[in-house]
Amino acid sequence: MGKEKRIKVIMDCDPGHDDAIALLLASRADNIQILGVTAVQGNSGVEYTARNARRILDYAGATDIQVYKGCPRPMMRDQYRLTGIAIHGEDGLGGPYIPEPVTPIKEEHAVNFIINTLRASREKVTLVPTGPLTNIAAAFILAPDIKEKIERIIIMGGAVRMEGNINSSNEFNFFLDPEAAKIVLNSGCRIYINTLDVTMKAEFKREDVERLRAQGDKLSVITAELMDFFGKGHEDLFNFFTIPVHDAVCVGVLIDEKLVEYDFVWGDISIKDELTAGELVADIWHLTDKQPNCYISRKIDTQKFINMICDHMKKPYVSKYI
Ligand code: BDR
Ligand code: CA
Repeated sequence: MGKEKRIKVIMDCDPGHDDAIALLLASRADNIQILGVTAVQGNSGVEYTARNARRILDYAGATDIQVYKGCPRPMMRDQYRLTGIAIHGEDGLGGPYIPEPVTPIKEEHAVNFIINTLRASREKVTLVPTGPLTNIAAAFILAPDIKEKIERIIIMGGAVRMEGNINSSNEFNFFLDPEAAKIVLNSGCRIYINTLDVTMKAEFKREDVERLRAQGDKLSVITAELMDFFGKGHEDLFNFFTIPVHDAVCVGVLIDEKLVEYDFVWGDISIKDELTAGELVADIWHLTDKQPNCYISRKIDTQKFINMICDHMKKPYVSKYI
């Protein structure tokens, strides 16, 4: 694919097993050029999530994609990291052995990288945040002009038609930094939200993991091993086995727009009510007079997603910078 047709993205993440798989998938997608990866606290502290992003990219051969460390805490709150460590392990990426990175993490702060990259870009850029939205919200506060340079923001967060994974109202990413989520949702940008309603269905069953492992190549095997740990984490914490590869859905829709169906609705984040702070509230029936401001996921093609991951992990790394 020619350079001009590639979707330019900044991946903002907190790896995290499913974030790591999202990075691997994006690194193999012909139509995506990763301009940089920014790390935020979430599944573990930001020192760890930045290191994990770097480790996984080095492992994938993507040493030409740079990693920037971002915000070490949410904007207003210091949430207890409920499921992050419980599911992803102390360092955020438990399970398989992934060597220490060789490529250094960049000195520039993630928020400055986002601002500088968007300002310098001649084309619009797509943001793919798969952790708490702290870095993106901080960038909007410091440099509101960058919103003009954003093509779309493809978010993983929230739960609308089903219970959350923190409590009945709350999903992890929005729960960790409700104020940041509110700032981003009210930014006026074109926003797509992949909620738990679809990402819980972006699920690998045990036989799908075995299919991946049997492919035998480096990325397929490490992805299967990441899934083993992630599935066990869910079993230990929630008492049921599942491997929902939440964050990779955000990359998946860039590879194939038809992967997820969305409704264009009004949505906002609860911040004043301590019982529900971080909850994504959406006018899914269009019954209020509020103006739609975001696309909220309704349905995913699970088999297409599984095939997409399996097919892409077999591919070699091809630099998009040459
Ligand atoms: C989200 O929470 C994190 O643990 C995952 O990486 C994903 O981004 C799912 O609620
Ligand atoms: Ca994540």
